[in-house]
Amino acid sequence: MPRSLCQITDFSAAEIHEIFDLCAKMKSGKIAPRPLEGKSVACIFTKPSLRTRVSFEVGIAELGGNPVYITDPEIKLGQRESISDAARVLSRYVGLIMIRTFDQSDVEQLAKYASVPVVNGLTDLVHPCQILGDYFTILEHMEPKERYSVAYVGDGNNVSNSWLNLAARIPLDFRIGTAADCQPNAAILERAKANRDSRVLITEDPKEAVGGADVIYTDVWASMGQKHLAEQKLQKLSKYQLNSALLGLASSKAIVMHCLPAERGKEITDEVMDGPQSVVFDEAENRLHIQKAIMTFLLK
Ligand code: CP
Ligand code: NVA
Repeated sequence: MPRSLCQITDFSAAEIHEIFDLCAKMKSGKIAPRPLEGKSVACIFTKPSLRTRVSFEVGIAELGGNPVYITDPEIKLGQRESISDAARVLSRYVGLIMIRTFDQSDVEQLAKYASVPVVNGLTDLVHPCQILGDYFTILEHMEPKERYSVAYVGDGNNVSNSWLNLAARIPLDFRIGTAADCQPNAAILERAKANRDSRVLITEDPKEAVGGADVIYTDVWASMGQKHLAEQKLQKLSKYQLNSALLGLASSKAIVMHCLPAERGKEITDEVMDGPQSVVFDEAENRLHIQKAIMTFLLK
């Protein structure tokens, strides 16, 4: 079975660092591998996307390949035919499959039956490419440190779950400030806590989460597929807004991150998003470089 990226814990710490090294070399132009030369890549989207779609399509072209954009109304994954059959058929046409969808189990099924690597471009559970790119952005912007402190404030969602997955693999001081009923996935949380090299804190106090941290991170309060819960989430999470007062409690050198798209004025203020500590657009750019590194790593 080829290697796939269903979630970050599919990789060892050494492999994660190998991907960061590849990413740095590709971004600087020191290497320009073309592992997709003469191959196509299926890019399946059952949810909207700007960054993931465009960075994958551009990245695939830069690696010598041809992206094939596929939406759910066409393939009706798991309805028109089984995911295992779709995986086996796609593997006859393409060199890699990238998928953004709802259920994590659909991605895992695809990876189980495909004979080419599968990359998770976001599910309700996790968003691994995002957090690998985000950690690479931290490495670029911060002085080297054994264990960065990352404070995530807001909804305990796919993005916070992937931070926890990273904490399960590499040393991280990861804090989540969120409401009692907006917690991250319990099993993923336990796995992160089991890594003795990381520290994990869950608190309902956003100030406690942010205090002295190197990185302050937030994401939308209602994720794709949950927009009907937007009003409820707003009520529960408004005290976790990333604004200047909250940012003032972080390290004076702290950077601000957001995976985007942002709902400005809700989880993050314009002042913070456009302020001098924000690296959100470098973060968005790095999606391209990390995606290329991930695909190159999986295809080696
Ligand atoms: N951050 C991110 O994945 O953005 P898109 O939803 O636009 O792909
Ligand atoms: N948590 C967000 C991330 C978007 C990139 C969502 O799933 O909609």
